Amino acid sequence: MKTTLAGDISSKNYLPGPAGRGLFGTAREFQKAPLDYLTHIHQEYGDSLRYRFFLNWYGYSFVHPDANKHILQDNNANYTKQPHPSIEILKPLAGEGLLTSDGDFWRKQRRLAQPAFHRTQIASFARTFVDSTVARFERWAVKSRTDEWFAFDEELMALTLEIAGKTLFSIDLTGKADQVGHAFDRANRLITDLSSKPFALFTLRIPFWPSTQKLFADTQQLEDVVYGVINERRRSGEQKADLLGMLMEARDEETGDGMSDRQLRDEVLTLMVAGHETTSVLLSWLFYFLDRNPEVQERLEAEVDRVLSGRTPTFEDLPHLRYTRQVIDETLRVRPAAYILTRWAQQADTVCGYHIPAQSALVLSPYITHHLAEFWPEPERFDPERFAPGKEAERPRYAYLPFGGGPRQCIGNSFALTEATLITAAIVQRFRVRVEPNHPAQMEPQITLRMKGGLPARLEERR
Ligand code: HEM
Repeated sequence: MKTTLAGDISSKNYLPGPAGRGLFGTAREFQKAPLDYLTHIHQEYGDSLRYRFFLNWYGYSFVHPDANKHILQDNNANYTKQPHPSIEILKPLAGEGLLTSDGDFWRKQRRLAQPAFHRTQIASFARTFVDSTVARFERWAVKSRTDEWFAFDEELMALTLEIAGKTLFSIDLTGKADQVGHAFDRANRLITDLSSKPFALFTLRIPFWPSTQKLFADTQQLEDVVYGVINERRRSGEQKADLLGMLMEARDEETGDGMSDRQLRDEVLTLMVAGHETTSVLLSWLFYFLDRNPEVQERLEAEVDRVLSGRTPTFEDLPHLRYTRQVIDETLRVRPAAYILTRWAQQADTVCGYHIPAQSALVLSPYITHHLAEFWPEPERFDPERFAPGKEAERPRYAYLPFGGGPRQCIGNSFALTEATLITAAIVQRFRVRVEPNHPAQMEPQITLRMKGGLPARLEERR
């Protein structure tokens, strides 16, 4: 075991790892390029390590599937989300919603929200996924007749935001005039920006700080809309078959209580935060990899043409769009939108043989786990065959975790996979997406794993 942290390695089996320099240890390196630095130190120190980030405070990072399983599943009760800074920063927007809450409160909310993500409910959204995509085609067809490279990532982001608005509370967020879409977009950008700043949590507590003021103003605007919709529905007694409708009807089995307006607000904004950018980032990477891997693209087109025979895709087509799903799974392996997961150890624990003190900050990285050559030979190669039927059984379950795992696994995973499969099939049926040949497609790790410079693309009509 390599021990760069002198003085404190004695009876307990402390982890190896970088101490960095000065007061802030490794904080500067992390801030400059978080994913590069994490990858680099795991290459140097192995699957389990700790890094000093301030005085003698340490963060702990694990990437082996056994550690993922222990932390997310076997001993999950010991690992909470709060008060990890990466969670606290989401709170102005997401409040005590599913993504950020813990303990009994989270458990009750998860139980109440679960039926909204039932298969039949997702099936009822399939048409919205497809119709919202197809509605853009005429505009895209006009673009396809020019030689212009345009920001296809922005089109995909607008598409998933529109879908989030429609499926969540039957609001159409399309159109430049829409204030909700803009307020959400600005709030999202502000949080993204803040998350790379060292004193972000501190500035968020100062009400007159410019970024805090802006964030609160946008959040207020979103809140007003959400409360407006809730009040209107309570007043009219109207029941809608959207996610908000399901959440408003949900009742606790034991107490018979429903969610308060504040809880509904937190859950709705959480679902917007968690649900729309992740899916659009997945789609951007997917179209990038298709363009760079022509044999995969041709096989995907052949499947889509064969299964759909010229009609638009439906929920019933999903089991037959097998290769499409393999391409999605492989994209989520090489570029998992949620590239790190954070936890807070409540009690001391032993993970993969190493001691973790109580009240420690932990990082897991689906991105690094998905690139461990032991489980993923030639990890950088884009190869959807890794997800061919039967292949999953050859790897440990926690070698692949784009949606996390254990009780806190993404509640929207079937929603996202259905949405991504139907959008991909609809687009591939009509267009070939050509990516600017010199685009370096570097990763830009923000709240999600974005592509630096977006996805400059041209569309070619296939028929
Ligand atoms: C490709 C798309 C998506 C990816 C990669 C993704 C990834 C994840 C991951 C990794 C987690 C676990 C976080 C952790 O353990 O710390 C998570 C949680 C969550 N996701 Fe997703 N997600 C996606 C789409 C969605 C969608 C579409 C929705 C909702 C419509 C959604 C709602 C949530 C919520 C509410 C949680 C918190 C669940 C809980 O703790 O109970 N996600 N997501």
